[in-house]
Amino acid sequence: MTKITSILAVVVFSCLSLIAQAKNPPTSLGNTDFPNGLEIPSAIAVDLTKNKFSFSLCVIAATGFQCNATAGTWSFVGPDGVFVNDCKDFNDAVDDPRFITAVALNDVETLVLFSCLSLIAQAKNPPTSLGNTDFPNGLEIPSAIAVDLTKNKFSFSLCVIAATGFQCNATAGTWSFVGPDGVFVNDCKDFNDAVDDPRFITAVALNDVETSSDLVIHSAGIRSAFTPDDTSTSIFTVEATTPAPNPSVDGVWLRSKASNQTGTGKFTQVTYLQRVFTKGSLTPPSSQCGSTYPDKYVYPSRFSATLLFYVAK
Ligand SMILES: *[C@@H]1O[C@H](CO)[C@@H](O)[C@H](O)[C@H]1NC(C)=O
Ligand SMILES: *[C@@H]1O[C@H](CO)[C@@H](O)[C@H](O)[C@H]1NC(C)=O
Ligand SMILES: *[C@@H]1O[C@H](CO)[C@@H](O)[C@H](O)[C@H]1NC(C)=O
Repeated sequence: MTKITSILAVVVFSCLSLIAQAKNPPTSLGNTDFPNGLEIPSAIAVDLTKNKFSFSLCVIAATGFQCNATAGTWSFVGPDGVFVNDCKDFNDAVDDPRFITAVALNDVETLVLFSCLSLIAQAKNPPTSLGNTDFPNGLEIPSAIAVDLTKNKFSFSLCVIAATGFQCNATAGTWSFVGPDGVFVNDCKDFNDAVDDPRFITAVALNDVETSSDLVIHSAGIRSAFTPDDTSTSIFTVEATTPAPNPSVDGVWLRSKASNQTGTGKFTQVTYLQRVFTKGSLTPPSSQCGSTYPDKYVYPSRFSATLLFYVAK
């Protein structure tokens, strides 16, 4: 059982106005302005005679707790999420993943505590089920990644912002696929609301999925965050890809086959997913492995996309 030990990372949120629309991605990691009016409770104070505030990040994430039914206890697994310099940047991260400035580090026992100072009360209702059942208006699926619609039908979509990890093997000069780390909402616009109400997060990336040195044919998993109504998970393995409309900047559109489902809920029924409207997600150039980036470095390739899920007819 995992114990909460060592590292305690306290992330102070700077939830500034959600109205202002930034256009250019940040040029450095972190927001150097201390949040207006925030008073740090003495219990979590930092010794300011020896330390000073440097920067803040805003995170939306899910912390995993694994059930041990024998003991009737939950153990800490770790957080899965993405970070931006300002909460309002989540809006822009959907269109330009360079607004994502940090990601959760897997396999590290890290506890992220957060308390978000919301300056704008916008009490929207969180979704009442996992997924958006409207097929995206005007979307034409390229034939290379089509799903057989005589046997399957569209069920729901999700919007994701995430980073796919690629690990450098400097000896071989190659990158291998590690897996994505990110959060999913029913509609891209829900990322704004997830800052104020994390119940807008409806799914997360599934960790502990097999890694692969094959950069095209690989697997990744998704876990419903819509608990307790939906506890389903599924692994998705890439079957077919096609270039995005802007292939020099955006990763491939693809079709993956679902397998290895667990739990009960929407993902247990799914047969296929298609990743469309990809922004970002390119593999780093192999020339940078061993030069720009050291051996074993995990490069976070930031992306946003819409995922379409199908079920059997
Ligand atoms: C679950 O709890 C039981 C009883 O405490 C323990 O023996 C067992 O090792 C635990 N299982 C896991 C997978 O940690
Ligand atoms: C890195 O690549 C070399 C050469 O192909 C290989 O022998 C080695 O096992 C790889 N290391 C890892 C950690 O995959
Ligand atoms: C799916 O399950 C099969 C059978 O249990 C297993 O061999 C395989 O490794 C699993 N695939 C993934 C991607 O986890």
